[in-house]
Amino acid sequence: MTVHFIGAGPGAADLITVRGAKLLADCPVCLYAGSIVSPELLSYCGRDARLVDTAPLSLDEIEAEYVLAHRAGHDVARLHSGDLSVWSAVAEQIRRLEQHGIPYSLTPGVPSFAAAAAALKRELTIPEVAQSLVLTRVSGRASKMPARETLATFGQSGATLAIHLAIHAIDRIVEELTPLYGAECPVAVVFRASWPDERILRATLGNIAERLAADPIERTAIVFVGPSLGAEGFRESSLYDATYQRRFRGREGS
Ligand SMILES: C[S@@+](CC[C@H](N)C(=O)[O-])C[C@H]1O[C@@H](n2cnc3c(N)ncnc32)[C@H](O)[C@@H]1O
Repeated sequence: MTVHFIGAGPGAADLITVRGAKLLADCPVCLYAGSIVSPELLSYCGRDARLVDTAPLSLDEIEAEYVLAHRAGHDVARLHSGDLSVWSAVAEQIRRLEQHGIPYSLTPGVPSFAAAAAALKRELTIPEVAQSLVLTRVSGRASKMPARETLATFGQSGATLAIHLAIHAIDRIVEELTPLYGAECPVAVVFRASWPDERILRATLGNIAERLAADPIERTAIVFVGPSLGAEGFRESSLYDATYQRRFRGREGS
């Protein structure tokens, strides 16, 4: 018996990995967070699978489901939105599984920032403009940020910021980042990337608050900030340059 943690991807049912979909089909039990995982994904589960929405459950109750399935010898598919490596609450579940000696595996998923960048039709790293992407968030009710992980600290670098769980804090984002990026810096808000009701709002640090007040977006959105979002006329990458030495080709890049 194994608990398989599976990154469900950003929403669209066809953005789960092939491995994730196969695990869903094979596991007799599936735990999913109904508040953020698309119900369409559950169509990959076996007809007789036991489906448990964990949205109303406490961690103790989720642990009890794992223990029950372990005793019955039933594999469990545990779906979390996006990828498991960021803000998935997998770490605390793994810790409890280890205490019980219950085996587990992790299958990655398409993270929401990647789906949101695709919705924007943008690359987030642009030659000589921005070569780093910071995945971050602001403090919320559920978790506080470590003291040194501030938007101002990350913004010092001028990197592209992908700010999660922060649509309610747009005023704070503007206040902390305008001195570093300037009021003309592009901002893009992507709401529910890859869902049927996906929405995109493009603005600048100077007018994003006003635009959001006129056309509100709540929950499940990423706020991107950085010059890469509006970059034009940038230098081409040397990777595909005809004069780039042949011997370097194939070592890196896509
Ligand atoms: C608890 S975190 C989960 C992140 C997830 N593990 C991932 O890999 O993206 C939830 C936050 O991720 C972002 N998010 C998740 N799905 C999204 C989507 N389809 N479109 C835009 N943002 C999304 C939002 O910032 C949301 O508040």
